[in-house]
Amino acid sequence: MLKAVILIGGPQKGTRFRPLSLDIPKPLFPVAGLPLIQHHIEACLAVKDLKEILLIGFYPPSQIEPFINDVQHYYSVNIRYLQEFTALGTAGSLYHFRDQIRFGNPHAFFVMNGDVCADFPLDDLYEFHKSKGDNALVTVMSTEATRQQSLNYGCLVTDKTTHEVSHYVEKPSSYVSTLISCGIYVFSMEIFQAIGEAFNVKQQEYYRNGNGNKAGYMQLEQEILAPLAGTGKIFTYQVSRWWSQLKTAGSAIYANRHYLQLYRNTHPERLAHLHASGDQNPHCHITPDVYIHPTAVIHPTAVLGPNVSIGPDVVIGPGVRVRESIILANAHIEDHSLILHSIIGRNSKVGKWARVEGTPSDPDPNKPFAKMENPVLFNNDGRLNPSITILGCYVSVKQETILLNSIVLPNKELSRSFKNEIIL
Ligand code: GDD
Repeated sequence: MLKAVILIGGPQKGTRFRPLSLDIPKPLFPVAGLPLIQHHIEACLAVKDLKEILLIGFYPPSQIEPFINDVQHYYSVNIRYLQEFTALGTAGSLYHFRDQIRFGNPHAFFVMNGDVCADFPLDDLYEFHKSKGDNALVTVMSTEATRQQSLNYGCLVTDKTTHEVSHYVEKPSSYVSTLISCGIYVFSMEIFQAIGEAFNVKQQEYYRNGNGNKAGYMQLEQEILAPLAGTGKIFTYQVSRWWSQLKTAGSAIYANRHYLQLYRNTHPERLAHLHASGDQNPHCHITPDVYIHPTAVIHPTAVLGPNVSIGPDVVIGPGVRVRESIILANAHIEDHSLILHSIIGRNSKVGKWARVEGTPSDPDPNKPFAKMENPVLFNNDGRLNPSITILGCYVSVKQETILLNSIVLPNKELSRSFKNEIIL
């Protein structure tokens, strides 16, 4: 039997994802029509013998449990939310809930960072881990990045033949390796012994000096993986398929495109109804790939795609054009408006003949998987650099105005055009 843990963090995390994370926890932000972590859950369901998925984080249960109750209806594995009383770190949280993870005697468990997007090859990862025998405590999924980008990730130095990790440095200040951790792991159950030892040392230090780090807070990367490197107990499984982090709203557009592309092969039925003449959306013109929630109402003269996701109860008026964008629940895009490289928040309204446009700044879709740029938000004049345009929830854009490369916080009523601004 196998289990999976998805680390979802909490409200203080995901700040770069604002304003989109102001009204919905980032792990539940819809990408290609599904909450972000539902993609992880679906990848877990494809693993034979995986019986339970534990979401671990410090969001109030009221924010996560409705989602679990909803997905639990469709999926056969057990899904539970375990709430930390405070942020315990990526290893502290696993250790705190070790009894829950060990319950039922799984052979091994996956750990997935909740803010990554990928075509998760979990079966292959597990087979690779097993092939390394009893000595292997952890296998880290890894991918290639550029030298500069690698500094933002966990970097691995490995033996090219055995794939053993000889050196691990989390977000190094100077170049170590272009092989980076994807934040997806498989652990043997014996890992808890290693975490326990690190935990005890830390506790002693805390009580002896009173000046240690927060009691119970432990980081998997620095405190467990780095010391294990070079001991013959940590391996890496390198992938070349699509993988990216979801830290900024711009990367949500990128992830949306890739998950839609993935569906074309794995779940064509999710996109297929779009090409047919449905009752709700009789002849709307689609340039694939597009996802439309069944409750959305699209005018037949609207043109959607490529890489567009339309949420529940959205209304799209006549002559509207949407490209490379995500339109969230209950938004209303009125007649003849244009939406490009943008995210339109829940319950927002874009008036007639308006133009809402962003510039794709990160990651560059023409670069493979991890090779994304770190966006610089402001230029020297304090103006926002070109980026995608984001409307928080309940924003209203006046008709016949232009909103270019701007970020609008929730509940704003815009009465004129804006360019390269954050509208607070
Ligand atoms: N439950 C819980 N508790 N989850 C947490 C906590 C915590 O205290 N802290 C972070 N997380 C979750 C986050 O929500 C995220 O899904 C994941 O753990 C990692 O988050 P960060 O700590 O922000 O790390 P990072 O994303 O900058 O880097 C990590 O991921 C990279 C790949 O995306 C590291 O694992 C890197 O080594 C890795 O390259």
